[in-house]
Amino acid sequence: MALAALLIAVITLPLSSPARGELTIIEHPVEASRPLRLLVIGDWGRKGRYNQSGVAKQMGKVAEDVSIDMVVSTGDNFLDDGLASVDDKAFHESFVDVYTAKSLQKPWYLVLGNHDYRGDVLAQLDPALRNIDSRFICMRSFVVEAGNVDFFFVDTSPFQLKYWTDPGEDHYDWREVAPREAYIENLLKDLDTAMKRSRATWKVAVGHHTMRSVSSHGDTQELLQLLLPVLKDNSIDLYINGHDHCLEHISSRDSCSPIQYFTSGGGSKAWRGVFRPNDDKLEFFYDGQGFMSLEVDGDLARAVFYDIDGQALHSWSLSKSRRLQVDQPPICSCSSKIRSCSSNLDAKSIYAVSSS
Ligand SMILES: *[C@@H]1O[C@H](CO)[C@@H](O)[C@H](O)[C@H]1NC(C)=O
Repeated sequence: MALAALLIAVITLPLSSPARGELTIIEHPVEASRPLRLLVIGDWGRKGRYNQSGVAKQMGKVAEDVSIDMVVSTGDNFLDDGLASVDDKAFHESFVDVYTAKSLQKPWYLVLGNHDYRGDVLAQLDPALRNIDSRFICMRSFVVEAGNVDFFFVDTSPFQLKYWTDPGEDHYDWREVAPREAYIENLLKDLDTAMKRSRATWKVAVGHHTMRSVSSHGDTQELLQLLLPVLKDNSIDLYINGHDHCLEHISSRDSCSPIQYFTSGGGSKAWRGVFRPNDDKLEFFYDGQGFMSLEVDGDLARAVFYDIDGQALHSWSLSKSRRLQVDQPPICSCSSKIRSCSSNLDAKSIYAVSSS
């Protein structure tokens, strides 16, 4: 209760009077003595159907085992057409009444997906929803500071050009977003500013749309062109998304910006049966339902994918101090001059290139 009150106190002010050109920052209280633990789920709100309830049950078990601090949602929170109003029963049927485990009664930080944009977006963003369920913290783009991890939540739907130019039967609620170009330009500037200010050991970006994906949506070209350079420039460690209804881990082959791409979009309907490899390194792909956990303990980050039976399918971990040692001297400030450095050069030879 105290936590909920604190959160609301922290975020009510900026929401009601957003400083122009600044992203809202939420300080998530952490205990310095213990690791930060969270679950990531995407593409889920189907009133319990398509195994949503089964995934929710396993999330509750895993969350109880490791005692999580928060849940992150990668969007498409309410399928197929977002929320119709703050009174939409779907808020209960797809969220409140599904993620009922005691262990999941933590703050949920949510971005919007393209399907959320097909409803009344202002309703889904309305803080009034927190009077119904105080966990639900959904904004377009914002920052969550949690000890040595900063999360940068990015509203990716406006990037996808075809929603604007070729919406077909679908209607997108672009209130407070249009025109697209100005919105994206401001957003990228705000993200860059927030990321440059960040002093966190780990920088994690979260959006709905895929950056790198081997499933049905594939890569989102607009994000590769517009958002990825900002992530690279600011040494973002992980990009986590949904949109494709599966679980994926892909690591970048760019040794200057070794971003890890995670797709956690297995919250309900899955099994698309599409597999199309791309140029980056595929570490893991599962076409079915599931979710991801992330644990950050100082220099060490660890991600695990779970299926609907709670079975750990894939895990990845990275120690930052070790990586920095390998990269010393500071070659991977990666100026434009050495951005082409390849991973099979050792630190000394790259340093020679950069200092010549
Ligand atoms: C639900 O999950 C089980 C186990 O993975 C799977 O066999 C079944 O096809 C899933 N149902 C749907 C509708 O995806």
